Formats: sequence, C-alpha cells, structure tokens
Amino acid sequence: MKIQGSVALITGGASGLGAATARMIVENGGTAHIADRAGTEPVDITDTAQMQAAVARCGPLRILVNCAGILDPARVLGKDGPMALDRFARVVQVNLIGTFNAIRLAAAAMSGNEPNADGERGVIVNTSSIAAFEGQIGQAAYSASKGAIAAMTLPLARDLARNGIRVMCIAPGTFDTPMMAGLSEEVRAALGAQVPFPSRLGSPAEYAQLVKAIVENPMLNGEVIRLDGALRMQPK
Ligand SMILES: NC(=O)c1ccc[n+]([C@@H]2O[C@H](COP(=O)([O-])OP(=O)(O)OC[C@H]3O[C@@H](n4cnc5c(N)ncnc54)[C@H](O)[C@@H]3O)[C@@H](O)[C@H]2O)c1
Repeated sequence: MKIQGSVALITGGASGLGAATARMIVENGGTAHIADRAGTEPVDITDTAQMQAAVARCGPLRILVNCAGILDPARVLGKDGPMALDRFARVVQVNLIGTFNAIRLAAAAMSGNEPNADGERGVIVNTSSIAAFEGQIGQAAYSASKGAIAAMTLPLARDLARNGIRVMCIAPGTFDTPMMAGLSEEVRAALGAQVPFPSRLGSPAEYAQLVKAIVENPMLNGEVIRLDGALRMQPK
C-alpha cells in the first residue's frame, strides 16, 4: 500500500508513538487523522459513537494505526490488599477492547474501498508491547491486554483476508515517549542501559519507520514484530 495519497487514522496520535506515526504519514504524502481523547476533537476509542464518527470523518480510510493505550501499573497484591478489579478492567477496556473497537469500525469502512493493484483495501497496525511476553512486576493488567492484542493478530488477518485488509502488530520495547516521562532521568537511563544494542530507549520515529515498512510491504500480514534492540525485560 502506498502512503502517498492514502488516508490514515491514528488512535493515540496526539502523543508519543502515535504522533510520530502521524508525522511520518504526512511526510510521505498521506493524510493523517487522529483519534485521541487528548486531541482537539476528543475521541475515546472505547466509545463506539465517537469512534464511528472519527472513522466517518476520514473519508476513504486505507490505514489504521492503533497506538492509544494506558499503563496504570499495580501489583495484584499491594500494601493495601488486592488490586481493585475496576483498575484491571479499565486497562483491558482501553488497550484491548478500545483497539478492537477501532479495528472493527475501520475494517467496515475499508471494506468499501476500491482495491489497489495488489488487491489491497486497507492495512491495520496494532501496538502490543514486549510486556505481552515478559511482563514485569505490576504489569498483570497491561500484559494481559497487550498479550491479547498480539494473540488476535492472526485471527484478525484471517478474518479480513477476503476483504483485502492486512493486520499486523508491533511489540515495542522501551521507547522515549510521554508514557515514560513520569520516570526520573536516572530510571530512564537505566532502562536504556538494559537494551543490548543499541543501548538506549527507542525513538518514536523508529516505531513510525516500522509502520511505514509494514504499510508498504504487501507480504507482511498476520505477524507480531518485536522492535526492542534485543531487550528481554527482567521482573523489574
Ligand atoms: N513507550 C513505550 O516504551 C511503549 C512500549 C511498548 C508499548 N507501548 C504502547 O505504545 C502505545 C503508545 O504509547 P506511547 O508511549 O506513545 O504513550 P503516550 O502516553 O505518549 O500516548 C498514548 C496516547 O493514547 C491516548 N489515549 C489513552 N487512552 C485513550 C482512549 N481511551 N481513547 C483515545 N485515546 C487514548 C492518550 O491521550 C495519549 O495521547 C501504547 O499502546 C503503549 O502501551 C509503548
């Protein structure tokens, strides 16, 4: 799929990995729409009416990149007792169910597109995390939601094959975004030092570079790609 002349919708596009993706789309001659609860026209990805309106505003949507997500770490058994169930549910609601909400509504819109020469009507890129595979202390909810995003990649690709829509998933390691901004400079440096090579946090532009490669390569489908400099996270 060519980015030039294509319309993209980026959830979580007001910040971090999503904002870098929106810039990449525009730099390559595409049109970037943002669905973010922090956007100028706020969209909550878990709200079907708001998400449907965001998809409709795009016109002929060809590219969906799901970056909206929350972290909210908490141990299952904390100092004050068991983790509140609604905290767990909220992380799953935003990260997993919100992502699926965007996928199903965008796929319906994409299915009406004219296919390109390769038969493609659309491309969907979801954002998991390496916490899907090596969740750290306090990440049960986050890992559950990101593991599910990774796991649904293949069935989604299979479902949408007949519509000419590819579905891919990126599992980033540690990237320098506002999600990391809450951490001290010392902790951020320590996180970067844990990455075997290159020994630093990833830059959002490097995430966007992989989105570009996925969109442009018609053979990439139904797969989860780690983007982590060989990082394998430890318990903490
Ligand atoms: N930064 C990292 O190291 C890292 C690593 C692995 C995975 N990820 C994942 O990448 C994605 C982007 O992360 P980031 O670091 O850019 O984070 P970020 O906090 O900078 O950006 C996330 C954006 O999502 C938006 N958002 C949150 N909940 C929303 C909702 N319900 N509806 C609409 N928008 C909502 C926020 O307003 C924010 O603009 C997330 O899914 C995150 O879990 C990040």
